[in-house]
Amino acid sequence: MHDETTDHPSPTPAGKVWLVGAGPGDPDLLTVRAARLIAEADALVYDHLVSDAIMELARSDARLVYAGKEASNHTLPQHAINRLLVDLAGEGLTVVRLKGGDPFIFGRGGEELETLAAAGIPFGVVPGVTAAAGCAAYSGFPLTHRDHAQAVTFVTGHLKDGTVNLDWPALARPCQTVVFYMGIGAAGEICRQMIAHGLPADTPAAVVRNGTLPSQQTLLATLGTLPRRIVESGITPPALIVVGSVVNLHTLLNWFEQP
Ligand SMILES: C[S@@+](CC[C@H](N)C(=O)[O-])C[C@H]1O[C@@H](n2cnc3c(N)ncnc32)[C@H](O)[C@@H]1O
Repeated sequence: MHDETTDHPSPTPAGKVWLVGAGPGDPDLLTVRAARLIAEADALVYDHLVSDAIMELARSDARLVYAGKEASNHTLPQHAINRLLVDLAGEGLTVVRLKGGDPFIFGRGGEELETLAAAGIPFGVVPGVTAAAGCAAYSGFPLTHRDHAQAVTFVTGHLKDGTVNLDWPALARPCQTVVFYMGIGAAGEICRQMIAHGLPADTPAAVVRNGTLPSQQTLLATLGTLPRRIVESGITPPALIVVGSVVNLHTLLNWFEQP
């Protein structure tokens, strides 16, 4: 492009990156804004948990880049994703960075925005339905039902160094619901620690896999039985562990899963 008033080449117009939450799977849970941005984007950089039905909303000529991120199989390392976003926006493209659930809840969205901010790239953020909210709604677990819980805690069961070094005394307090993201591989340790820090072994605990999708599976157990039930059922990620007595309401409030 050429700027005729100064006779200097003009810089490429700045692109923009939208960090967009795709929700937990059911495409109908996208926000109106997310659906519009996906349909308009020049380029989409998307994660493993974004469903095919959502990707079908993209323009047929949009550039699609799969960034991966399964628990132990990071297709693109985080620094390469950060660089890619800067480069695509630097080409003047409108980029949608699409993440499962909400981009600020265990989504590393903050790190990507820090890179964009440092590079002077304009950005915006669209929240999404996080897996805990989606699974709770579709499994019939009202997370803060007044008869059961005064608080809800979202916590990761997968830490940077591979350990599960959490604030167990806080997580094991009664009258709350605790939702573990990425906790399937550490379920044995999670249940053991919750019991060791004071919760009864018969505290209700559940796993929800593929929440909000037709393949959703809810497994009801207790802290004492959950690790064995997970092994027996062969349940694999993506799944959440939910601990607390709201889990018992599934029997009455399940509206989505076929018995
Ligand atoms: C890297 S975290 C991303 C969380 C996402 N940003 C969110 O707000 O839901 C990935 C984990 O979220 C949980 N998850 C995401 N989608 C899920 C679903 N549809 N059903 C159950 N768990 C899900 C699983 O624990 C999975 O391992």
